[in-house]
Amino acid sequence: MKEIKIGLLGFGTIGAGVVKLLAANSALLTEKTGTRISLKSIVDLDITTDRGVSTEGIVLTRNAEEVLTDPEISIIIELIGGYEPARSFVLKAISHGKHVVTANKALLAVHGEEIYAAAKANGVEVLFEAAVGGGIPVLSAIKGNLAGNRFSTVLGIVNGTCNYILTRMTHDGADFSEVLKSAQELGYAEADPTFDIEGVDTAHKLCILLSLCFGTKIDLKDIYSEGITSISSEDVDFAKSFGYRIKLLAIGKMDGGQIEARVHPTMIPIDYPLADVHGVFNAIRLTGDFIGPVMFYGRGAGMDATASAVVGDVIDLSRNMGVGISRRCAPLGYLDEKVSNLPI
Ligand code: HSE
Repeated sequence: MKEIKIGLLGFGTIGAGVVKLLAANSALLTEKTGTRISLKSIVDLDITTDRGVSTEGIVLTRNAEEVLTDPEISIIIELIGGYEPARSFVLKAISHGKHVVTANKALLAVHGEEIYAAAKANGVEVLFEAAVGGGIPVLSAIKGNLAGNRFSTVLGIVNGTCNYILTRMTHDGADFSEVLKSAQELGYAEADPTFDIEGVDTAHKLCILLSLCFGTKIDLKDIYSEGITSISSEDVDFAKSFGYRIKLLAIGKMDGGQIEARVHPTMIPIDYPLADVHGVFNAIRLTGDFIGPVMFYGRGAGMDATASAVVGDVIDLSRNMGVGISRRCAPLGYLDEKVSNLPI
């Protein structure tokens, strides 16, 4: 039987989730892919802390170089997060002919072009479903089944931490900093939660969504971004008394060849579906010229849901390995064409 060996960079919450899923569903994965998918090595600075998952038979190392250049490994999963050393490691893996699966939205939002170009030049793929919407397969849908559409809007709740905080403030009257602490403990927040609560993580995800929906690179600094740090309990109560809920939205629109992109807290009428997205759940609403409005909903952060998306990409790669590179890395370009701007 064909065997695919994987190297994992980053043994944090999501890394542990991937180890757990690969072990729990090993036989199922083999059955579905006809391939034995095995995790050969894990790279992390901390290789001693118990993550509550078995690492029997897996090499734990601090030496990334050794794993990135290991000829037996054909897929690198990057779950370090942030810009460096993730960027250098991913480029190194690509230059050694390895496919990459990453959940790193910050990396792709800022260095995506460089990474996709390197992947194309080396004939490998970079898949990143887990970078937006946690376990929700929204990127696969945009690149795949919905690819026949011209999109006019993409908007939604794409940060689980903020949605969890706003939900708890709305429903339990909870205090902002206490709920943030609980989001960190639950493994929803970034290593530096400032990225979550200041809207930066949402802007990173919006960058990725825009590039896939509209086929163009958007500079992060061109996205107006405001987080939820200035939202008080009074604001939440005030919104509630008028029949609204406050949600942090990522909003992208294409209008006459111009893209509008912004991230900010928004008052949403309670009878609007996005107002009913609670806790760590995310929802992304797209409008395509043929599909019309379509909404994706599910767990947007956390160990298990994100691991599901990461392993989904690994399965996708393992099915396609040996049959040539697909066009999934390529942007869907039609920027100069006009599309209608449907109301959100
Ligand atoms: N910190 C992110 C969130 C993790 O809360 O949505 C998932 O990307």
